[in-house]
Amino acid sequence: MDYSAMKTYAVVLSLFVVVSAVNEKEQQFSNHLKCNLESKPSEGEILPTTDWIDIKDECVNLARKQIRMEFEAALAYFQLGAYFSQYDTNRPGFAKFFFDASTEERSHAIKVFDYLLMRGQLTTYHPDPQLHTLLMGTSTNKSTELSKLSEALKKKEVKGGLDALNMALKYEVAVTRSIKRMIKACENEEVLSESDKLSLEKDEARVAPNDYHMVDWLITDLLDEQLRGQRELAGRISTLYKMKEGYGVIADFLYDKKLLEELNSKAA
Ligand SMILES: [Fe+2]
Repeated sequence: MDYSAMKTYAVVLSLFVVVSAVNEKEQQFSNHLKCNLESKPSEGEILPTTDWIDIKDECVNLARKQIRMEFEAALAYFQLGAYFSQYDTNRPGFAKFFFDASTEERSHAIKVFDYLLMRGQLTTYHPDPQLHTLLMGTSTNKSTELSKLSEALKKKEVKGGLDALNMALKYEVAVTRSIKRMIKACENEEVLSESDKLSLEKDEARVAPNDYHMVDWLITDLLDEQLRGQRELAGRISTLYKMKEGYGVIADFLYDKKLLEELNSKAA
């Protein structure tokens, strides 16, 4: 081998060494970036015990339904907010009122979701680990208030603010019933109807008949806010109704201005 061939060989060899070293470094770096959290523990590792999870299945199922219902309420109010925002309706006060109400309903859904998480639900340890099933299934709103509202909007049957507030109150009544059903189910399993009874056999021995914490939370947090919201809506309906008696068609316009001022000053 002459000198120049040896030189070429040496250059190729050193390049190969450098490229291999870079590849190895890159491999190490990409391995480092990989998520090493495995869904199943490695051999020898122990999962936390599930004995502390003592929430009843029917409470969980009704809470899941409640989440869906809160999202349905959010959607219904979003539709009303959009209706009042249209240029040919143009009621900014009502639009803001319903958009705000929609955001509030979404926060209720998150509140129930957080509660279930706190009680050890919606995890891979649960027999139904699919988090995405939370929002699956048929509509829970058997009172059909939501479909009535959608239909009324489609057919342009919402005649103004009073109509919309009345629809919202009807929907809230359905939500209140749903919360009360949940309280009943979590309070005492014996008052459940046959159709509500779920598979308790396996866990019956360790499940308390009354879920004191959930019942307390439902009443003092969720139901309290719900009843106050209903009262607020009923008050607004009453005021607008009286304004209509005195001012006729201009009442909606005046109430809308009042509503916008009130909501803007609250937000400031
Ligand atoms: Fe709500």
